[in-house]
Amino acid sequence: MIESLLQRINLELFLYGFSIIRPSDNNFENLYLNDFQIEMRYLKASNSEENTTYHGGNILKLKLKDIINERKFKQYNQFNLSNKNILNSMNNMRGYKLDSIFRTFDTKETVHKAQQSHFDRIPTLKFMLYVNDINQSNGAFCLSPGSHNWVNYKYGKIRSLSQSNKYKETSRNIPKCIIDKMEPIEGKAGTLIIFHTNCVHNQGIVHEGSCKIIRAHYRKRFLKFNFA
Ligand SMILES: [Fe+2]
Repeated sequence: MIESLLQRINLELFLYGFSIIRPSDNNFENLYLNDFQIEMRYLKASNSEENTTYHGGNILKLKLKDIINERKFKQYNQFNLSNKNILNSMNNMRGYKLDSIFRTFDTKETVHKAQQSHFDRIPTLKFMLYVNDINQSNGAFCLSPGSHNWVNYKYGKIRSLSQSNKYKETSRNIPKCIIDKMEPIEGKAGTLIIFHTNCVHNQGIVHEGSCKIIRAHYRKRFLKFNFA
């Protein structure tokens, strides 16, 4: 990846809490995008028993061992390796490990608590790939630029898994001036949004069509283990 693009990602993460890489920004072809599109072509909404809080959509969660061991998930491994390349090239981003990758398919029937503006209780760096063209009508993801500064200041930049229950209420009690600045991120298939989950965000609402996203979560290991 070219140096100037990495510099922009670094700066935007620092200033806004997120950065967007458009398909035209990246000279390398995303080999995994086409595989994700084929994989998700015939997906239908199905409420899984494991995800009782997720209605009207279809969600798959994979861990690193699934991705490495299963041939059918090779595109997830390629996506992870590409993300790790970016992470390893950025300032202060070394030490982040893959926690999980989610595949989400949403329709206008989808109801999920992530549709309400919030910050994540456990700070996570997420790489979100649009698998289809996504705009405001079919579920563009929303972020409030710079809002990570408020969360970092008020609740701390780093919070461990064992502390996370404390933030059940506060993580959804967001000041109006931050909510007023929420902006939908529209983009073509292949758009990659890198964001820190201290930046206030919400899942987009689908009014028509569908929304297909692959989302990889990276965390510093000690957030999970040292305080547990
Ligand atoms: Fe979230």
